[in-house]
Amino acid sequence: MVLKLFIDSADPKEIAAAAATGLVDGVTTNPSLAAKTGLDLIEALTQICALVQGPVSAEVLATDTAGMIAEGRRYAKIAKNIAIKVPLTWDGLKACRSLRSEGLMVNVTLCFSPVQAMMAAKAGATFISPFIGRLDDAGEDGMSLIRDIRAIYDNYGFETQILAASIRNVPHVRESALAGADVATLPPAVFRQLLYHPLTDKGLDAFLADARKAGVKVRE
Ligand code: E4P
Repeated sequence: MVLKLFIDSADPKEIAAAAATGLVDGVTTNPSLAAKTGLDLIEALTQICALVQGPVSAEVLATDTAGMIAEGRRYAKIAKNIAIKVPLTWDGLKACRSLRSEGLMVNVTLCFSPVQAMMAAKAGATFISPFIGRLDDAGEDGMSLIRDIRAIYDNYGFETQILAASIRNVPHVRESALAGADVATLPPAVFRQLLYHPLTDKGLDAFLADARKAGVKVRE
């Protein structure tokens, strides 16, 4: 098993660019990301679902259980790889149980405590989304939340996947992998940064310069 990488964006162009690497396992969207694109939500999700094979999270806008279920069913009609994203509220967890019983994937979002994550797992969530960066911003330790959830899920054999969200930088990705997260969802800029190291660039320049100077060629 390997840390799955999702792209945290609702912009089909950004997602297509990242997916072209062949190393993108899914996508997460949220209402704020969708608003930024200026595209029709259903149209954008339709395009995104065709770009990646893995789960594409689409977040409900309703706040009551019945409304969330209705919106979830609407999203599920878009494609088989839709995961319905519901907030970590009592209504959200009721909707989670119901949508899961229909065989749909559910991502429970806006998780900020280990007990919230335990409750989402009890409700059968496919994914739990703990928000690392927002906890760090509030002066807490976002990564310790991932570690605590991992320990609780392992203690009780919960199969809910830990989806590290609100990731701001490459060290967050490294720490999520070390803490045993199942998935990390990355803004496209952080995804592009994953391979960056100044010594890689410097080393490659030197290798190519040496080959050029000596006239070394790859012959057919
Ligand atoms: C997760 O699914 C959310 O879309 C996202 O990671 C939120 O990140 P932010 O705190 O940078 O808005």
